[in-house]
Amino acid sequence: MRTPLVAANWKMHKTVGEAAAYAHAFRALVAEVRDVEIVLAPPFTALHALAGALAGSGIGVAGQDLHAERQGAFTGEISAGMLRDAGAGYVIIGHSERRHLFGETDAEVGAKVRAATGARLVPIMCVGETLAERESNRTFEVLDRQLQAGLAGLAAAAGSLVVAYEPVWAIGTGRNATPEQAQEVHAHIRARLAGVLDESIARTRRILYGGSVKPGNVAALAAQPDVDGALVGGAGLDPGSFAEIVAGTRGLL
Ligand code: PGA
Repeated sequence: MRTPLVAANWKMHKTVGEAAAYAHAFRALVAEVRDVEIVLAPPFTALHALAGALAGSGIGVAGQDLHAERQGAFTGEISAGMLRDAGAGYVIIGHSERRHLFGETDAEVGAKVRAATGARLVPIMCVGETLAERESNRTFEVLDRQLQAGLAGLAAAAGSLVVAYEPVWAIGTGRNATPEQAQEVHAHIRARLAGVLDESIARTRRILYGGSVKPGNVAALAAQPDVDGALVGGAGLDPGSFAEIVAGTRGLL
């Protein structure tokens, strides 16, 4: 009932030329895929060219961040409308690197989510606990706080929301959550979505797992009832391995 979604977050990797070469190779590899929504999140500089290179493929393009205001004196920032104008249909919000390296707060994440939905971009809102928070049994408390603030004031516009659970200790570390750990947290997130938004919205929202997703572990993760796809970093940089992750999500690996 929920179409799986698999997104590659390229972070600060790839030039315009490299993005176009990836698009060319990747389109061919996933040309037959109809049952998984696929999204690529390039750096801002490659967004427009990548959207052009993917035209007609059904593969979506995402920004990796945005500013909550529509326009103004915010040097270095990009608005939701600008992302749409450049060809994006999605935007990643509140990635742990934004939160931990750049000091983004829960309240800022919430403002960005509202800005995204206001511009008809699908927000992929990231939540996740650090290792210290997990080890002190604060995982659910941290997630509840992030969800509460991230979804504040969203109710009616939550129809397109995607949530990504990315335990910080699993990102880029090669140490992924087990399928059981992911399922436990995803079920908790879905229950919180029902509380903060409403039951019918919670049932239809995609909740992605992220953190060291690879071709070899994606099938077991995606087989969990509340895991609706993946947000992929390192393994999304190569078209071949990302295409394998798409196949694994479909249970074909
Ligand atoms: P990773 O990154 O797959 O390299 O662990 C995931 C992410 O940061 O979204």
